[in-house]
Amino acid sequence: MKHYLSIHDIGDLQTTVNEAIALKKNPYQFEQLGHQKTICLLFFNNSLRTRLSTQKAAMNLGMEVMVMNFGSEGWQLEFSDGAVMDGGKAEHIKEAAQVVSQYCDIVAIRAFAGLLDKKKDEAEEVLNGFKKYASIPVVNMESSVAHPLQALADTITIEEHRIIERPKVVLSWAPHPKPLPHAVPNSFVNMMRLQEAEFVITHPKGYELNPEVTKGCKIVHNQRQALENANFVYVKNWSSYSEYGKVLHTDKNWMMTQEKLGDAKFMHCLPVRRNVVVEDAVLDSLQSLVIEQANNRTYAAQVVLKRILENIK
Ligand code: CP
Repeated sequence: MKHYLSIHDIGDLQTTVNEAIALKKNPYQFEQLGHQKTICLLFFNNSLRTRLSTQKAAMNLGMEVMVMNFGSEGWQLEFSDGAVMDGGKAEHIKEAAQVVSQYCDIVAIRAFAGLLDKKKDEAEEVLNGFKKYASIPVVNMESSVAHPLQALADTITIEEHRIIERPKVVLSWAPHPKPLPHAVPNSFVNMMRLQEAEFVITHPKGYELNPEVTKGCKIVHNQRQALENANFVYVKNWSSYSEYGKVLHTDKNWMMTQEKLGDAKFMHCLPVRRNVVVEDAVLDSLQSLVIEQANNRTYAAQVVLKRILENIK
């Protein structure tokens, strides 16, 4: 693997999931692979899970890790070719990406959507800027439109907990007071397309995801109907895509409850707002897989870094 920018970069999903589960059983098996190799984690946005699990994955592989909160500690980056840089932006992506490439062997980047300008967000200027100008592999730790490490952890979790060959998996929108990006649901949908599952998306009208992402997916606007006989319910808020970045409503009736969940397993990428997105009774029940999902972030990152290290050896 050269880069890990989207779920499509991993090749065969089932093989990758099996490899991640094997790494989980024996995490230090490949600790020589990353000897004298360094990963640099650049954060333009906050994180708990991604930061610690990617660091842990790299350490399990014997790598050195450098972490920088670029958004608050780095120079403000210019991305336009030919820009006259007489404003607030002190450094161009061309130099920044090449300089980072001198210090490490892999660079991993988190840069969220701003949710103000759809075209700008979909251009993925930070991630694609590093891909264009860095001379080392680039890993996506959540970009404007994708969170492929989360999606891989989610599919590992489903694999570990499914008791039937073709489970019913429901992606349900939930209310949230703030506008959130589309990266997690986009990657979850893309990953579900590669899975053996009955997949249903449910959300209020106006919350349609990018139609190119959901093309061919079953979408049901009645949440209770969508949840019938579900085996896994993945709950996530996202802002409107058509009225880009807007919170259209915060209808409490869409919050996930124990009664609506039934016997299904509950999934969420975290962080989650209790009693807004999902009620306490669900998160505190044995049906909740959220801590296991967070644990699997390590092995999702580890299988990705292992594949990249094998390619650059
Ligand atoms: N799920 C996830 O990416 O968590 P963090 O934002 O804390 O990294």
